[in-house]
Amino acid sequence: MTKSATFQIGDKTIDMPVRSGSIGPDVVDIAKLYSQTGAFTYDPGFMSTASCESGITYIDGDAGVLLYRGYPIDQLAEQGDFLETCHLLLHGELPTAAQKADFDYRVTRHTMVHEQMARFFQGFRRDAHPMAVMVGCVGAMAAFYHDSTDITDPYQRMVASMRLIAKIPTLAAMTYKYNVGQPFVYPKNDLDYTSNFLRMCYAVPCEEYKVNPVIARALDRIFILHADHEQNASTSTVRLAGSSGANPFACIAAGIACLWGPAHGGANEAALAMLGEIGTVDNIPAFIAKVKDKSDHTRLMGFGHRVYKNYDPRATLMQKTCHEVLAEMGIKDDPLLDVAMELERIALSDEYFIERRLYPNVDFYSGITLKAMGFPVSMFTVLFAVARTVGWIAQWKEMIEDPSYKIGRPRQLYTGAPRRDYTPISKR
Ligand code: SDX
Repeated sequence: MTKSATFQIGDKTIDMPVRSGSIGPDVVDIAKLYSQTGAFTYDPGFMSTASCESGITYIDGDAGVLLYRGYPIDQLAEQGDFLETCHLLLHGELPTAAQKADFDYRVTRHTMVHEQMARFFQGFRRDAHPMAVMVGCVGAMAAFYHDSTDITDPYQRMVASMRLIAKIPTLAAMTYKYNVGQPFVYPKNDLDYTSNFLRMCYAVPCEEYKVNPVIARALDRIFILHADHEQNASTSTVRLAGSSGANPFACIAAGIACLWGPAHGGANEAALAMLGEIGTVDNIPAFIAKVKDKSDHTRLMGFGHRVYKNYDPRATLMQKTCHEVLAEMGIKDDPLLDVAMELERIALSDEYFIERRLYPNVDFYSGITLKAMGFPVSMFTVLFAVARTVGWIAQWKEMIEDPSYKIGRPRQLYTGAPRRDYTPISKR
């Protein structure tokens, strides 16, 4: 039985079809609203708008549920590895042992970048923000990999997807090395994805670098937690850029640019800066007062979420990983962690945050963890981008392979000047 919603505007009444997904809220298909009523819907932050149909990631914000292709995030993070999650997001199924071996082999053998990309870095200041460098370098991949930019060719789409998943850690590590003034380190094919990335970041020519397996496992899990998240701002940016037919390298560069914002992926960097600004546990009450003072515009970075109005399931796993990493690094009492845990305790018991349903999100504990791993704060969002690239490319691929997709072109509520005639400057 098809469901419908009746809409009345002025003297017009129209029925619009209501569609149900496999789980989650129904949608009202308003595609014919403008042609039948002359009115648009208005939803600037997309608070009540589904922009697409997708089968990749499902979030239930009230229940604190996150599923990648139906699998709960905690099971994937605790039992699988990041490349297995990449295969799942891209192809829709967990790989068999043979498929996993093949997928790992193919990704591993795409990790090197064109040698001339190394020269590309020379144009940046050493102290450039790593996200600025990443936006430039990932966009520049379109200048080096022309043979995988034809989005109408399934083979080229797959090659571009594998190149992006494989090369983003190499470019991220090169960005870090350039920032700290150390020589670039080539990937090694006998290392797993995340161990390879850690070695490219921290190895130096003067001595052999031994990957710490506990840290590699923790970072691999952090990549899984950040891999995809439905139609968030950066994924929506990638989809909109891709809807014009732009090549996948340009679309991912657009996603990186959007992720950089402090309200989005930049929150992990901002959350750590906030913890540093608070400094000690006894400064928390004064900071909380600033957050509550509307004129102050201070926000609790790493708290709140557009969708999660309950605990972000990733934050729970991030906190667990944080403790593991601190223990492994021998960091007994990190004052930032003390501040973070006390801040969380206070916020979760404070009416202001409770009534606004503000809970820690994935960014609240990731900063402390990444700092303990030795990454500078400016690299935190780069690491988020490394992980999210597979989600962006899986969502881009899903859109391009949907025969009904069309260029995204929203309309507006116009509140500017009505038509008026030009006035010569002598008469102004
Ligand atoms: C990510 O979308 C995704 O899925 C993103 C992400 C992903 O994986 O892709 O999950 C990753 O971006 C996580 C979010 C990281 N951002 C931050 O941690 C920055 C701090 N958080 C916020 O700025 C905010 O919570 C947002 C942007 C995340 C969500 O904001 P909304 O849904 O637009 O909510 P809002 O701004 O309308 O706020 C509602 C109320 C307001 O108070 P009132 O005006 O009703 O009195 O809650 C307050 C806000 O002032 N509020 C906060 C707050 N977040 C919201 N108050 C203090 N601190 C905060 N962090």
